[in-house]
Amino acid sequence: MLMMSPTLRSLWFLSTTVVTILGLLGQNLPCVLSSPHRILVDTDVDTDDLFALLYLLKLNRSEFDLVGITLSANAWTNAGHGVNHLYDLLHMMGRDDIPVGVGGEGGVLADGTILSDVGGYLPIIEQGMTTTGECRYRQAIPKGSGGLLDIDSNYGFRKQFLPQGNRSYTPLRQPTAQKVITDKVSEGPVTVILIGSHTNFALFMMSNPHLKHNINHIYVMGGGVRSRNPTGCCPANSTAAECQPRQCGNRGNLFTDYTSNPYSEFNMFADPFAAYQVFHSGVPVTLVPLDATNTIPINKKFFETFENNQRTYEAQYTFLSLKIARDTWFDDEFYQSYFMWDSFTAGVAVSIMRNSGKNNNKNGENDFAEMEYMNITVVTSNKPYGKSDGSNPFFDKRRTPKFNLTLGGVHSGHVQMGLRDPFCIPKSGKGRCKVEINLRNLLMKLSSTVLREGIDTPIPTVENRPFNKEILKWRRLGSLKPPSIGNRL
Ligand SMILES: *[C@@H]1O[C@H](CO)[C@@H](O)[C@H](O)[C@H]1NC(C)=O
Ligand SMILES: *[C@@H]1O[C@H](CO)[C@@H](O)[C@H](O)[C@H]1NC(C)=O
Ligand SMILES: *[C@@H]1O[C@H](CO)[C@@H](O)[C@H](O)[C@H]1NC(C)=O
Ligand SMILES: *[C@@H]1O[C@H](CO)[C@@H](O)[C@H](O)[C@H]1NC(C)=O
Ligand SMILES: *[C@@H]1O[C@H](CO)[C@@H](O)[C@H](O)[C@H]1NC(C)=O
Repeated sequence: MLMMSPTLRSLWFLSTTVVTILGLLGQNLPCVLSSPHRILVDTDVDTDDLFALLYLLKLNRSEFDLVGITLSANAWTNAGHGVNHLYDLLHMMGRDDIPVGVGGEGGVLADGTILSDVGGYLPIIEQGMTTTGECRYRQAIPKGSGGLLDIDSNYGFRKQFLPQGNRSYTPLRQPTAQKVITDKVSEGPVTVILIGSHTNFALFMMSNPHLKHNINHIYVMGGGVRSRNPTGCCPANSTAAECQPRQCGNRGNLFTDYTSNPYSEFNMFADPFAAYQVFHSGVPVTLVPLDATNTIPINKKFFETFENNQRTYEAQYTFLSLKIARDTWFDDEFYQSYFMWDSFTAGVAVSIMRNSGKNNNKNGENDFAEMEYMNITVVTSNKPYGKSDGSNPFFDKRRTPKFNLTLGGVHSGHVQMGLRDPFCIPKSGKGRCKVEINLRNLLMKLSSTVLREGIDTPIPTVENRPFNKEILKWRRLGSLKPPSIGNRL
């Protein structure tokens, strides 16, 4: 049962008062301008994240205003590289004003107190006062090709293609993720889009519950609810040596770790406890899981259409990035296994916000996907619960569990230790560790089937961006050839 506490009551009273005062002041204005949707993005700066950000940056600012970006630094990119990439991208789009937050020197005390500017370099379960941790989840992300090395520099194209502005990563002086989130949420109502792990945002909500009322909605790319990953089945009758089974029929997309955890999707896997905090925060959540994104493959026809439609620098950068991702894909199944994960999520989010003014869009109607209400949670540890086996720092060797978690509760079981955690690989050979989205307990929306492809959606271009002017100037001076991407690779 929910009871209204005295504090809540007075807050409620306060907000009524504010509304009344504004109402009185507003009477003198000839008309009331609707303010833009303020958007905050937390990203791990993977290739599809860049597409999502460019999509948001190309929207009309008086409708959708990207006010801040924070970097999920415990996943696909390293802090400094990720920040520089975002700065260059923002410079190209004429948005040197958008703050980019990452990391920080704070931590979580042994008693569970979350200090301000907590780093966010580690999943919450490993976060103490230092950066020593088990890397239990991050080791699933490849270090070299196709992983950190390539993503950090966008295969080298960041420096080669994007213009560099005045901003660059400054260790120790970089605004922290917690500061950027706190500033932007304090300034007014904001919509949050999470397209990396949830570490930063979960830490923010755990330590600033009083600011939750300013978060309108959270859009999340992550999880596989009932997806069946379309890649990598073993051909019938193949021998053990011939067959490298991948995720055939499984829900998740953890291509490096399907043997122990076939259920998990990378964004959830990177910090399941953080995802749990976000989903159970009480803020309305719209989830765009693999179920939805798996239905939009980047196929050959898409590539050809895209190749012939590169009228802007951002389209060229996007194409270049997508092409190198394809040409260096680890197998020949790119067209079956690359999807518009984060960019699709940005599209769904914007479309729902666009419709939100119209006849109260409670069911999340949008141009791209059918929506469904579901009760959902995140599985953060494995049964049996409450049994100490050395895998769970929230409980093991502690007199009181961290964050006052309940012994015997859903967070108190075995937590996956690594890619080849023996607990997670039973004799049957099919992994059993779960970091998974389960249907339980919580109301949220799920975008399921895609209605139509979004490639024809007209996007406004902003021709008077500073970078555009500069390019035109150089071009007139003859010192810069128009970038030609077509056959260069
Ligand atoms: C952006 O939206 C505002 C308000 O709706 C409108 O006045 C303006 O013309 C739009 N700008 C562009 C470039 O479409
Ligand atoms: C970069 O910094 C210099 C020196 O502070 C300043 O003159 C210039 O206008 C800045 N350029 C941009 C694009 O902000
Ligand atoms: C697989 O083996 C079975 C039994 O030997 C046979 O009937 C079947 O045709 C084989 N399938 C393929 C695809 O070779
Ligand atoms: C979610 O769970 C609640 C409480 O158990 C239940 O009343 C509700 O009908 C469920 N919603 C859906 C969409 O399953
Ligand atoms: C845990 O519970 C104790 C006692 O109720 C309380 O003093 C403490 O602040 C709580 N800690 C956290 C992190 O919630």
